[in-house]
Amino acid sequence: MKIADQCLADDLSTQAADRSRPKVRPAMHPAIERFLSDEKLVFSLVDGLGSPLNVIFPRQIEETIGRFERVYKDRQLQGTIFYTSKPNKSHALKKQASTTKVGLDVSSEGELKSALTSGFHPDRIEATGPKNIDYLALCIQQNVLINVDNFAELKQIVRMASYSPKGRKARILMRLDGFEPGRVKFTAQDSAFGTPVKDAPAIIDLLVEHKDTIDFHGFSFHFNAGDYIRRPPAIEACLQLTFRCIELGLTPSAIDIGGGYRIRYAACQDEWNTYVEELKASVLGNRDSLTWNDSGLGYYREDGVLKGAPNFMEHYHKNDGHEDFASVIDTPLPAFDGYSTARIVSDNMFELHIEPGRALLDQCGITLAHVNFDKQSILGQQLSVLDMNRTNLNSTQLKLMTDPVVIYRNLDRKPADKGVMYVGNLCLTHDMIQYHKTFPEFVPQTGDAVAFINTAAYQMDFAEAHVLEQAIAKKIAVIEDENGALRWFLDELYNPMAIAGGIKP
Ligand SMILES: Cc1ncc(COP(=O)(O)O)c(C=O)c1O
Repeated sequence: MKIADQCLADDLSTQAADRSRPKVRPAMHPAIERFLSDEKLVFSLVDGLGSPLNVIFPRQIEETIGRFERVYKDRQLQGTIFYTSKPNKSHALKKQASTTKVGLDVSSEGELKSALTSGFHPDRIEATGPKNIDYLALCIQQNVLINVDNFAELKQIVRMASYSPKGRKARILMRLDGFEPGRVKFTAQDSAFGTPVKDAPAIIDLLVEHKDTIDFHGFSFHFNAGDYIRRPPAIEACLQLTFRCIELGLTPSAIDIGGGYRIRYAACQDEWNTYVEELKASVLGNRDSLTWNDSGLGYYREDGVLKGAPNFMEHYHKNDGHEDFASVIDTPLPAFDGYSTARIVSDNMFELHIEPGRALLDQCGITLAHVNFDKQSILGQQLSVLDMNRTNLNSTQLKLMTDPVVIYRNLDRKPADKGVMYVGNLCLTHDMIQYHKTFPEFVPQTGDAVAFINTAAYQMDFAEAHVLEQAIAKKIAVIEDENGALRWFLDELYNPMAIAGGIKP
């Protein structure tokens, strides 16, 4: 189910909302809302399993995969959606994904081993990322599709491929970057990944020379979310090189256009825009500060003028996930007479591979934390101190700007008139969970639980560390049975096949 804009759905228009207490409600799947409304269960889980606690909703990934598959089907496209497993370590999510038709994109030897044990046959796995010899050797032995980063890696594969079991050819994609801008001008960005497209002729020569040991599947690239200008010229270059390879007797069958599709974190566009406007007003000194130590989150004031750029992601997109992907492949390609990627790929019976990570994890997880206590900061800011730290939400790197949901246990509540800032459990300055102020109705106090929504992608377990010997979060998987009753499993014990087969009813 795609989540509607809450402002449009609400009777209460946010036009009238109190700008002194701006809200950014999180976009939330009804299954997550139902889980959070079972307060007894939420408290018993945090009390029993500890804080922080990551809650995975594995069935959401299946729903989202279905939407991406529909984009393929509507355009009669063949190819593989490789779920990029890097943004989250959950076994439950991998196991759930393994019951669908997607492949898995792994980025390390450890992730490859985890993919194999999560039920992915090697035929369904693609290996990306920087590779050491052990990672490469395991890929070759398992005949995993290797997305080759550079010449040195390609040469190592050529040397090892002749030792592959049963003499199978090593299956590879070749990752490129440094594409020419074409008609659209953009500033070239440096990257540590991929091989410069200008070196493609030399790569092709090597592939032709070693076509008895290397099975070349095609060219690939990956750009981060929002990088729309660079994609069409990159796709054009990959397609042109594919045709060149065919002329030279190679048999590439696919292009791989990577991941980088967005998530809509905020429920409501008006609320999001209002918060950002209020943030700018606070940096200009036109209202009370909204950021910790007046940091401005990337904005600053110079000679009375607002400067800088936000250091947080855009939290509301009209087109996210599969719609974002669809718009990429429907964009006309000038070098192909304005035909779209989807059209060129399907007319030539190529396969289109993609590697979405973040987008497939939309609505797949939340992070719960116990409130240790509340207090005032030295300068009088209302703080709520959580039993988690910034590594548990990757807060230094990624700023989650949506309002957490507070589940109050304490009946003796005090109003949070001036807003609240969430602080962590490290004996270090600046262990902030969020660097901005949010406005819950009441101050979260000892024993309350705070839920950060939509943390599965790159947030809940991407950078967590046992810093100061603090706990890293346990992970559980939560599903609803056919009667709507909630069930939970330790993440590693969740087994969708056993549940579907009635073996673990
Ligand atoms: C090669 C590659 N593919 C796919 C992804 C997934 O990107 P995203 O999570 O933005 O979809 C990444 C992320 O860094 C990547 O490096």
